[in-house]
Amino acid sequence: MKALKWIVGTLVVLIVAVLALAFVMMNQGFNRFDQDWSPDVEMVSITDDPMAIELGRFISESHGCQGCHMGDYSGQVMADAPPFLMVAPNLTPGEGGVGATYSDEDWVRAIRHGVRPDGRGLMIMPSEAYYYLSDEETAALVSYLKSLDPVDNPLPEFELRPLGQFIMGVDKAMATAPELMPDRERVTGAIRGVSAEWGHYRASVMCMVCHGGNLQGGQPPNPDSPFAPDLRVVPGWGLDGFREYFETGANPSGRASDAEFMPWDKFAHLGDDEIEALYLYLETID
Ligand code: HEC
Ligand code: HEC
Repeated sequence: MKALKWIVGTLVVLIVAVLALAFVMMNQGFNRFDQDWSPDVEMVSITDDPMAIELGRFISESHGCQGCHMGDYSGQVMADAPPFLMVAPNLTPGEGGVGATYSDEDWVRAIRHGVRPDGRGLMIMPSEAYYYLSDEETAALVSYLKSLDPVDNPLPEFELRPLGQFIMGVDKAMATAPELMPDRERVTGAIRGVSAEWGHYRASVMCMVCHGGNLQGGQPPNPDSPFAPDLRVVPGWGLDGFREYFETGANPSGRASDAEFMPWDKFAHLGDDEIEALYLYLETID
């Protein structure tokens, strides 16, 4: 009898301890999710110049915004899963769209710093890459987004559920955009053109977030992704081999990259000149 009491007592203590620990972890995770970042916004001057709007369209189409926010930018529920309700918001000025209420500063805060107007860091939204867009291209992107046609599509808010709070409490890899900001400078002063200098700029925005600041390999922010390899192999393929990679996803030896983790199909929207500039830059790395 005494032994049984002892066993039951120990079990109860254990269960309470496990629950308390889970609760502490959930709390820790929620605090990371809900942290108020309110960064000093690195502002740019936004115009309604048609040339800027056209450049902004190009930046959006080549940098994957529509992959999550949809072709007409009306947003979508990306996943309704036990850890979270993952929602890419409606960006248009229609019903339920952030465009209806956003100020210029709100746009720049979200794109560059990965933070909402209320100070919460964005999940999934790759601002840790978009931070590196130049002032000119950030301004153009916002000009374009402000010109979008309204689409009515009210959506629920992004929700971090208890399981997600727990995961975020124990696993640093599940993180908000401001937590993922790399420790490197924005590349400034590059002049648009088919040059290694411009390729360096484009790579700083599009490639370094996964392949590392020196493009010699890195672990992408998505913890499920395979390692992003050293890109010093590319000059050995020739420019034609590199172009073909963006058309087919396969390297000259026939090995294909997984488009889920290496978005080669989206990068094809960059066009010939940008791809050649990237190539010229890759030739300069040693
Ligand atoms: C991989 C998916 C993904 C891509 C690519 C992406 N976004 Fe997002 N974006 C999201 C998600 C998810 C959220 C909401 C996150 C949250 O609420 O924590 C978001 C939020 C935003 C917000 C903030 C809205 C708000 O609630 O205040 C803006 C603005 C935005 N994205 C613009 C863009 C632009 C512009 C691009 C392209 C340059 C882009 N996004 C690319 C997934 C994405
Ligand atoms: C979201 C993360 C991510 C981004 C952004 C990214 N890559 Fe990758 N890349 C990967 C991963 C992961 C692999 C490996 C894929 C595999 O093995 O299936 C890869 C593979 C490659 C390969 C194939 C290498 C080989 O030996 O076959 C090339 C080339 C490449 N990336 C170039 C680029 C360039 C150029 C950019 C910028 C324009 C870029 N990547 C941006 C994640 C990324």
